[in-house]
Amino acid sequence: MLIAGNWKMNTDASSCVELARGVVQESENAGVVRVTVCPPNVFLSTVGTVLNGTRVSLGAQNMHALGSGAYTGEVSGEMLHSLGCRFVILGHSERRQHFGETDAEVNRKVKKAIKVKLVPIVCVGENLDQRRAGREREVVASQVKYALEGFTLSSSNALIIAYEPVWAIGTGETASPVQAQDMHALIRKLVRQQFGEKIASGLHILYGGSMTPTNAKDLLSEKDVDGGLIGGASLNADVFGQIIQAAKDVEQGSRTASTT
Ligand code: 13P
Repeated sequence: MLIAGNWKMNTDASSCVELARGVVQESENAGVVRVTVCPPNVFLSTVGTVLNGTRVSLGAQNMHALGSGAYTGEVSGEMLHSLGCRFVILGHSERRQHFGETDAEVNRKVKKAIKVKLVPIVCVGENLDQRRAGREREVVASQVKYALEGFTLSSSNALIIAYEPVWAIGTGETASPVQAQDMHALIRKLVRQQFGEKIASGLHILYGGSMTPTNAKDLLSEKDVDGGLIGGASLNADVFGQIIQAAKDVEQGSRTASTT
């Protein structure tokens, strides 16, 4: 199970330190649950220093598909890796929506991230109109297929997919556990077709979209939900800690069930 915090364009030079320290503290007893935070790029170094030697790993929210060059304002995967980042969120719906990121661009970034040994957290998800039209499976299948085109994977740990229905992001509305499980199972099936059973069964598929301590346990209890990508609720260490605890409870529950 992986619980990832996407801080988006939030915090400042001092509050990022405070929040990172809080997350470190909340993660001390996380057991087998892995925790990561993705601060804004300008604070990666500062937050990285706080996380150094702790159980919490560092991730970024985006990167350019090329390694270096005349691309004012951009950041490369190599740069993120050199700062100690382990993860990078790619293809978030906010990037697709507000910055015109295409499936082709997401695919280029995913390939580059894997090449520089970052683990991409590839975001997919339908918007409200698409769900109302009953097209959610078709939309997500197309995003997944496009993102995963043209490379091979040696390990299921080299890639993460996050199902984030756009209508659930920042709205207080979540997918129901059944809706989430249905889409996660579809994503795993597509990964199985592309990379085979071993990669598919070990792959982490995260749910994102208004996850809170109230709904986390139900969502994380679903068979194909392997963690959460959390926006708003990751900006408060105590609240984020409650989601980590929910993940731990689910892990412990399933391990108890499998040994009885
Ligand atoms: P919220 O948890 O604020 O809905 O955001 C989810 C998200 O976009 C994480 O990447």
